[in-house]
Amino acid sequence: MVLDGNQPASVQAAAEALARGELLGLPTETVYGLAADADNDAAVAQIFAAKGRPSNHPLIVHVADSAAITRYAKEVPLFAQQLIDAFWPGPLTVILPRLAQAAVASTGGQDSVGLRCPAHPVAHAVLAACQRLAPPVWGVSAPSANKFGRVSPTTAQHVAAEFGDDLLVLDGGACAVGIESTIVDCTRGMPVLLRPGAITRADIERACGLRPLSKEELPAHTPRASGTLLAHYAPNAKVRLMDAKQLQSALDVLGPDARHIALYHRAPLTTASRHIVQRTMPGDALAAARELFGTLRDLDALGVKLIWIETPPGSPDWEGVYDRLQRAAAA
Ligand code: TXA
Ligand code: MG
Repeated sequence: MVLDGNQPASVQAAAEALARGELLGLPTETVYGLAADADNDAAVAQIFAAKGRPSNHPLIVHVADSAAITRYAKEVPLFAQQLIDAFWPGPLTVILPRLAQAAVASTGGQDSVGLRCPAHPVAHAVLAACQRLAPPVWGVSAPSANKFGRVSPTTAQHVAAEFGDDLLVLDGGACAVGIESTIVDCTRGMPVLLRPGAITRADIERACGLRPLSKEELPAHTPRASGTLLAHYAPNAKVRLMDAKQLQSALDVLGPDARHIALYHRAPLTTASRHIVQRTMPGDALAAARELFGTLRDLDALGVKLIWIETPPGSPDWEGVYDRLQRAAAA
């Protein structure tokens, strides 16, 4: 059932459903989440079951404000606090050392916990309502509300299509960011970028004065992040990344009879085939992120067999979009 997330009664009903151990489709500014009470292990187990996600892939715990950090994290290093101060509420997840009894199933028993305070007004209203319950729900675990390995949802309709009418979904409109939060591991004495997103490396360095390491620069990277598996965000169609020149040559070779192909590109391309679907990718990285997953879903829904995508620019602001496209292409 999809309810209007802007209605206070819907928000209250959603908070109470979470407190009863039920799942909720929750809008955030990045993507929609499949939410459950972070400290209810049975409810969290339902998330893993519904997604078909391995239970050793830890979930992000969403909190209403930075005061709730003390419910989940043992300590907050100075640079992590600086990142929180700079970017919360917003599309930043920090990995912190976990308090022993907190969010056990959500974290797959790892000694760290991922925390995020979302900026979306509906997400915030739900998390605040959860805190006001007796007893309070302090944290809400929410992975992206898609089946494991599939494209993340950016509208309430995407979530309903994926999980059916039994799931309560709050409609908070289309997500403004469109790709998942930037994840920074803060348990290693240095910021380590686990997943790129709208908050860039440069933003992180500006906020805390430390250049974030890439996970490849670490000696042994243990925590799993399914958003970091190579093949992820996969539509049904096969995705290929090519630069504009490669795309044009491929189109020239195919000629007028080519069909079942969709193009998602920025550079002007010409094709003799009337059957090829063309979509223009925005020239701005934030705009491209906003529509990326929705476009992949739309093209998939047309039944094309191939989605040919122009490789995005290599500049730092495109890192999040580039990352998602590479994973979609690896599937
Ligand atoms: O924008 C987002 O982050 C969205 C919205 C709903 O908030 N959520 C999201 O969740 O993308 P999910 O589960 O699809 O991705 C969470 C990522 C996973 O790759 C997970 O492994 C990683 O965060 N993660 C969570 N806790 C972690 C931990 N303690 N250590 C390392 N990675 C962690
Ligand atoms: Mg996901």
